[in-house]
Formats: sequence, C-alpha cells, structure tokens
Amino acid sequence: MCGIFGYVGARSDAAQLVLRGLSQLEYRGYDSWGIAVGAGERVAFERHVGKIGAASCTLPDSGLGLGHTRWATNGGVTEENAHPQLDCGAHLALVHNGIVANDAQLRVALVRAGHKLRSQTDTELIAHLIEDLLEQTEPGPERLLRATIAAFGKLRGLNAIVVMDQRTRELVAAKSGSPLVLGFHATGHFVASDQAALLDHTREAAIVEDGQAVLLTRERARVFDMARGQELPLRPVTLDGEPEPASRGDHPDYMSKETHEQPELLRGLSERARGQVLELARWIEQSRDVLMIGCGSAMHAALAAQHLFARVAGKRVHWAAGSEVECVLPFVSSQTLVVALSQSGETMDVLEAVRKARARGARIAALTNVSGSSLWRLADLQLPLGVGPERCVLATKSLTAKLALLFLTASALNQQLEAAEAALGRAAEDIEGMLRGERRAGLQAIARMLASKDHLYVLGRGASYAIALETALKIKEVSYIHAEGFASGELKHGVIALIEPGTPCIAIAPKDATEEDVLAGAQQVKARGAVVIGIAPEHHAAFDYHIPVADLAEATLIANAVPAQILGYELARLRGHDPDMPRNLAKSVTVK
Ligand code: AGP
Repeated sequence: MCGIFGYVGARSDAAQLVLRGLSQLEYRGYDSWGIAVGAGERVAFERHVGKIGAASCTLPDSGLGLGHTRWATNGGVTEENAHPQLDCGAHLALVHNGIVANDAQLRVALVRAGHKLRSQTDTELIAHLIEDLLEQTEPGPERLLRATIAAFGKLRGLNAIVVMDQRTRELVAAKSGSPLVLGFHATGHFVASDQAALLDHTREAAIVEDGQAVLLTRERARVFDMARGQELPLRPVTLDGEPEPASRGDHPDYMSKETHEQPELLRGLSERARGQVLELARWIEQSRDVLMIGCGSAMHAALAAQHLFARVAGKRVHWAAGSEVECVLPFVSSQTLVVALSQSGETMDVLEAVRKARARGARIAALTNVSGSSLWRLADLQLPLGVGPERCVLATKSLTAKLALLFLTASALNQQLEAAEAALGRAAEDIEGMLRGERRAGLQAIARMLASKDHLYVLGRGASYAIALETALKIKEVSYIHAEGFASGELKHGVIALIEPGTPCIAIAPKDATEEDVLAGAQQVKARGAVVIGIAPEHHAAFDYHIPVADLAEATLIANAVPAQILGYELARLRGHDPDMPRNLAKSVTVK
C-alpha cells in the first residue's frame, strides 16, 4: 500500500531521482514520505508528514538513494514513523511495504538486546534486526544480503523491504507479498513498487517474485532464492506503456481528467476489446461454474455481473468479495473459472483468493488495467481494461470499463454482441451529456444541497443494488459523508429507521423490472421527510431532484454509475477535499 523507489549508480542526483519516483507512486499511500541517501559514513535523510506535492529535496549529492511514500499501518502519521527507518548507527536505511505480524515479540527482543527504538513502526524493527544479524554474519561478499535474508526469515506476514547500506553502497530487497520491480539503466539500477515509475528511465526490468531477495550495486543486479540461498538467473522483461504524462491536460485534477475520458474510452472499447470479449465468453461457456471476485468498486462490478449474466445470457455467475471467498472456496474446482477484477492487479485479498482458487484447480481470467501486475502474471487469460493509467484513487474509468466489458461478454454469450456494442455507444453519449452543460449544472445544484449533510442513503434493486453500493462508495470516498447503499427491498427491514426530515436518499430506478419497487421505496422514505434524488430516465412524483439517465436497457447500469462520480467530485470541491488523494485511502491495497 506504500510506494518504494531506490537507485544505486553513477549519477549523483539520487535524491532527485527518488523524489520524482515517489511522486509517481504517491497514489499508493500519501500520509507521509521520506528519502535517504548515502553521504560519507552514514545515511542522510529527510522525512515529512503529508503529501509530496511540489516539495523539493535538500539532501546532498549521492549515487545511492532510497525513498518511500507511506500508508500508515503500525504507528500514527508522524515524522518519526515515516520511512526510511534507520538502525542504531544510522548506517542502514530501510523502507517497507506490508505488515510484520510478530512485531510485538521482535520489539521485546530488540529492546532487550539494547537497541534504541525511535518510532512505533514495525518497519524500524527490521532495520535493527538486520543491524543485529550483520554483527553475527561473517564479513565478506554479500554480507548485507545474507543478514537481510536471515532477518526477513524472522518476519511473519506479507512484506516487501529494501535496505540501503552506505558503507557497502548496496541496496538489498526481499519480498513475500507486496510488489517490487527492478530497473536496469546504463548508469546503474533502480528498484520500485510499480513498473510505471521506472518508465521515465528504462524499459529493461525484472519482476521480483515472492521468496526472492535482490542485491543491487552500481555494477550488478543479482537475484537469489531466499529459501534455498541460491542465486537465480535474471529474467529480464521489457516494460510496455508510456511514461506518465505530467500534465492533466486542462483538468485541475486526475479525477476530472479520468471521468471525462470515459465517453471516448467506452466508444473505443467495443473495437479494442472484441477479441478478448469473445475469448472470455468462450471460457465462460466452457466452465461449469463461474466465480467473479473483486474488492471495493471491483466487487460492485462482480455483483453487477451476476445480474447481467443472468438477465442477458441466462448464465449463472457467482460473486464474492476478494476478502470473503472462504465460504465459496470449498466449491471451487477444475470446473471453475474465476474471473478476478482488479484495476491495479495488486489488491492483496484478490491475489490471495486467486492463489487459493488456483490451488484447487480453477482457471483464472483477469480483468485488470495493469499488464505485468501480479494478477496479470497469475492469470491464464489476461483481459486488459485498456483505459490508460488511473491516478485518481477513486475508480472511475476503470469501473465503467469493467461494467462495459462484462456487459459485452454477457451479450456475446447470447449472440447479441453487435446490439450491445451499439448500446454501449449510446451509453457513452449519455455519459458525455452528464459531464457538461445543463445536466452537469443540475448535478452541481444537488451537490450544493448535499454539501451540509452528514448522512445519505442509496436505494437500488437487482443490478442497481450493485450501483447503489458503488454510488455510496464514490460519495463516501471523496466527500467523507456517511453514505450507505442497500438493496431497496431491505428498506423496511431496518434502514428506514434512520430516515428523518431532510435525510437525502438517492433512488436508482432504471426502466426495468425493478422500477416500480424502487419507486415505491422512494415514496416510503419521502413519506418520512426524506429528500429524494431520483436517477431515472423520467421524472417521478417521489423525486425532489431528478438526475436524468437515458433508458439503455441492460447498458443503463454503465451510465448509472457516473452520476455519483460527478456528485462526489463536486462535493469534494465544495468541501475543499483533494479528489485525487482522499484521506486514509490508497490506490492499490497491497496489505490484507
Ligand atoms: C474505488 O474507488 C476504490 N479506490 C477502491 O474501492 C478500489 O476499487 C479497490 O481498492 C479495488 O482496487 P483494484 O480494482 O485495484 O483491485
């Protein structure tokens, strides 16, 4: 969930290189950041609470640097708890992504051994552990590597670490979970959490796999199997993708840019993805069981898919949250196709679920936006979302692309692909209409009404239940209003107790079999004084506010996912929040 970037080489601007790398990784965690460089006998470092923004770095010139952007797990958001963390002698600087599950025992042992701990983090413990084991490791080549592997073996949990030793001018990395990629460059070597941060410098890379350790010097990059203590051949890969354009075009932030990209992306998707849609439809057809999994917005797409495939293709599809697969895993077998949905391809709960399903013989199809990601490499069938990098923490274009791909696949199963492609074109048109002009102004007026509210409820039925959950999530993530989405049929079984005069309720009422019941629910909350906002093709007496969305039959749910993106965005601006990096969140959740 954190961002790691390191460099060892002939260049002397390691601090600036690392700062640039971190600013490209900040979406992975942004409550604090820090950089260390090799300077003389010790490391020089600076750490800051808050986002990098336009910060500069005042560290001395060096060819050895390591940095980190943090999403706090163990220890509050303070300068002391930011990374890099150091050993007692300030010879070692260490950054970490993951959670050390046995930190309490390690802390007691290290304090008893005389180590002075300065932070509340589990990360600092690793630096002191390596310091300890270095003293017990025979001098000689690969001493830091051997001590780091020994220390890593004492950690419980899924972790990725990189340690820098100024004395030997080495970087050593070790991994058993969170992603790490090496970059090869004429001047030296890079290590980063995400291949995208390397594209400014090189396309020559190598993926660090679980259970591997890496020794990087200016001259060489070497990979080792930690369990067998054996050196492994490097497996270079060529990175695809373009370095991230710094600009957001004429948009003030990535959320605005990425929501406005949706119409064009959806129009181009049919053409771009026809082959993969037909391939996925074939795999689904051949599978006795289909299980869709994802987390957050991706989970909502999995739930929507259950309704889509039932209604459009008459195909039963199961769904589960990535973190809640235990109850379906016993029924997973070689007859099962698991369709894993993940923008980043690095969400730990999804990766764990996929590994367990694979161990039971399942085939894996991955819908992801990051080729080369852990999920991409785990899958038997890769389906790129193809929407370009998504930098805003909120899933917008990646979510509508997932819904569109699933809609097209269900339609292909029913030999209705062409009609579905046409409907997708109309959905793109309708979304375009929402993003500007009168319809945008209407959404802005609703946002102004909601800006002072603390609670909001979203009703939906069938496929719209998934969109109700997604709508609530988008509003929660970026406005910090407590928003709750629920199946409107559950209203009278409890939620309605929360409705009082002035409580805003969004009712998602497309022209389908659920319309009447959702409108009845809207009437029932209105009767208790709720302010009803209707997302529907036509106005209805129950609505105090109407957000018009065209009737696009089964494609409607794609367009119905967008009003919440715009409402959330407008609310963030009204409430002075950063829409790209909301508090307490990160773009890819690489810890459990
Ligand atoms: C959605 O806006 C959030 N950023 C979050 O819920 C996200 O969908 C979830 O973390 C899953 O991420 P993934 O698609 O990269 O796996």
